Amino acid sequence: MFITFEGIDGAGKTTQAKYVKEFLENLGYRVILTKEPGGTKFGEKIRSILLTEEMDGYSEFLLFAADRNMHVKTLIKPKLKEGYIVLSDRFAESSIAYQGFGRGVDLDFIERVHNEILLNTYPDLIFLIDIPVKVALNRLESKDRIEKSGEDFLQRVRNGY
Ligand code: TYD
Repeated sequence: MFITFEGIDGAGKTTQAKYVKEFLENLGYRVILTKEPGGTKFGEKIRSILLTEEMDGYSEFLLFAADRNMHVKTLIKPKLKEGYIVLSDRFAESSIAYQGFGRGVDLDFIERVHNEILLNTYPDLIFLIDIPVKVALNRLESKDRIEKSGEDFLQRVRNGY
């Protein structure tokens, strides 16, 4: 099974993903918890560019897509094949919500790229952790570049989800 956790920043995805990992491990399953961006070594480098450099929505999406491509091919798919349950803190739906609805990147373009790179690896289950934008913003202590995009941006992202 491939399970992903989605939601705006500050919703509590990471916390919930850890609980689910523990829960499944206690049932005897082998579980891997990974994340986007930065689930691989390659991805960690892309993540640092994404969180610091200014860029438009298309470059942003293509960088997330490069990270996702490597993540699927070198980690998610091989681990699923080995029989692990793979949990990912964010996946493709983050790009639809953030770059598509948040930044205005063409949704068909996002879908076409995903069709090419996901190798039919779609989540069996997606947990969307929902929270009002104001509560989320109050929770974030320090903000990275994307989190600094403002309340209207996060509102579009939430509506997109
Ligand atoms: P994340 O690592 O979840 O943030 P944190 O540093 O709080 O753990 O994600 C970093 C940012 O990247 C976050 O604001 C959401 C954004 N993001 C996108 O805009 N598109 C994507 O496809 C992904 C995976 C993340």
